[in-house]
Amino acid sequence: MTDNVLTADLDEIDRLINGCTLCTLGSKRTMAVPGNGSRTSDLMFIGEGPGYYEDQQGLPFVGRAGQLLNEMLATIGLRREDVFVTNMIKCRAPNNRDPLPIEIRSCGPYLDRQIELIAPKVIVTLGRYSTAKFFPDEPIGKLRGTPANWNGITIYPMYHPAAALRNSTIRGALERDFLKLPSLLEVTPAPTPATPSPPPPAAPHPPQHSRIHI
Ligand code: URA
Repeated sequence: MTDNVLTADLDEIDRLINGCTLCTLGSKRTMAVPGNGSRTSDLMFIGEGPGYYEDQQGLPFVGRAGQLLNEMLATIGLRREDVFVTNMIKCRAPNNRDPLPIEIRSCGPYLDRQIELIAPKVIVTLGRYSTAKFFPDEPIGKLRGTPANWNGITIYPMYHPAAALRNSTIRGALERDFLKLPSLLEVTPAPTPATPSPPPPAAPHPPQHSRIHI
């Protein structure tokens, strides 16, 4: 399947996900949830995995956590259809248990191709699982609210909205983190000077990602 995924367009990715049986979740789902929203958006959200309502409807973040996500987007003047929303795993795990490493690995190529094709400027990772895709070594509590550069994309970790529904301190942090998003979307790469300066000497081991401080 990996070959197909590497060259697939977004419609084909949806079809592959909808027919996927790579892990055991494929036989337990009502519907797979590939993701939805604007395919040309500068802003992509990655959650953890579908819950009950998402599994019923085949759409991401349509339950209570999704409602909160929509409210947060509204605070910065965005609607759901302005952004692309997907998850680390594309099928519901039984009783909403945490995703297993094998499930995350099975869905990985789908998500990687979605990122490649949508090519967002900013990816908001909602919660620890999607944050760990990019920054596996630090806890979400430490990473949230601080944007970081990953292969030219700004990764902006936030708490998961479901956690914010249970805890008002987390909700406050989520609200504050959302308010920083517009400024991240405005950041454009520095213009190329008329006479380009020579490239700096190559570092022996260039870092794959670095923290951006705003
Ligand atoms: N939680 C998630 O992480 N994703 C969804 O789609 C819904 C709830």
